[in-house]
Amino acid sequence: MINVTKTYLPPLDKYIKYLARIWQTANLTNRGPLLLEFEEKLKNHLGVKNLLFVTNGTLALQISIQALDLKGEIITTPFSYVATTNSILWEHCTPKFADINPLTLGIDELKIEKLISKDTTAILAVHVYGYPCNVAKIEEIAKKHQLKIIYDAAHAFDVKLRGQSVLNFGDISTLSFHATKLFHTIEGGAIIVNDDSLVEKTDLLHRFGHHYDDFKMVGINAKSSEFQAAMGLCLLDDIAVIKQKRLEIIDKYYSNLQFSGLAFPVCADNVEYNGAYCPVIFPSEYHLLNALNDLRKISVNPRRYFYPSLNTLSYLDDYQICVNSEDLSKRVLCLPLYPDLPIENVNEICEVIIKSLRR
Ligand SMILES: Cc1ncc(COP(=O)(O)O)c(C=O)c1O
Repeated sequence: MINVTKTYLPPLDKYIKYLARIWQTANLTNRGPLLLEFEEKLKNHLGVKNLLFVTNGTLALQISIQALDLKGEIITTPFSYVATTNSILWEHCTPKFADINPLTLGIDELKIEKLISKDTTAILAVHVYGYPCNVAKIEEIAKKHQLKIIYDAAHAFDVKLRGQSVLNFGDISTLSFHATKLFHTIEGGAIIVNDDSLVEKTDLLHRFGHHYDDFKMVGINAKSSEFQAAMGLCLLDDIAVIKQKRLEIIDKYYSNLQFSGLAFPVCADNVEYNGAYCPVIFPSEYHLLNALNDLRKISVNPRRYFYPSLNTLSYLDDYQICVNSEDLSKRVLCLPLYPDLPIENVNEICEVIIKSLRR
């Protein structure tokens, strides 16, 4: 079976060396030495000021909402994984969906302002697939209306915009290190705080709200472990090669499919892309379902990232129309992508798609 992704595993002996260190100290969690080493290396690698390694990308979002003390309405994108919307709802806020730009698939910054009400406290945008949002325009809107900005950067590990990490924009950016991601720690995530005054609060929130005997606030347990940090340390050494191979595969897919009738999302200029995903846009859902069916017959399993459009979730209070997202979420497929995916398989997948489009 060729799935949309295959988790990268480092050489086993390398991971075992870290396990030996864990066995020596018997320190498994609670911000142990490997976790501190990982956080420091990761911070330098990503070029960010403050970084907190946490259990997963969902808790990273929830803690960010709490750290910024957000209430009321949060303007967000309908084209993302459900964790983005769920985090808003879990924190008792209301998502207000701004439709996406049909070319970039990111939140359409021109649709944000008209959703702002007296109850709006923030914009939670997603660098979907790792393609940066229009951060300059979003910052301008947020400043004008005194709103906070969170970027769900779950897909944007190592993405650079105009030469600097895209994580350095907004009040807070969050990452996911789930095993399906480009860079993973089995399960995991990170909170990148750009406002120094929030560092202590985010730290407290992720450790039950207290530091030893000093109980300060209601917190949660979002601490990660030494085992996850060890995986992160192993992967940091290999990430440049992982990215390079993934980018080569994306190039191959896009060059094979360039005259097929499929479209590809547009990534902004001045972006150093990380090779996180390979999304393609079909002319219709009918064409997408045909391709999906034909690919499954040869044991290839791409994924409908991101379907359904989140504004249509059944458990929302109301239906807010988002024409572009509802249309595109039915037509986008992410093709299999991992460093050791053989090029012969990429070619075969493309041939099946091209044939299916002729039906
Ligand atoms: C855009 C987005 N946000 C948040 C998450 C949640 O991250 P995690 O699975 O680490 O909780 C994911 C992925 O799973 C995601 O794709």
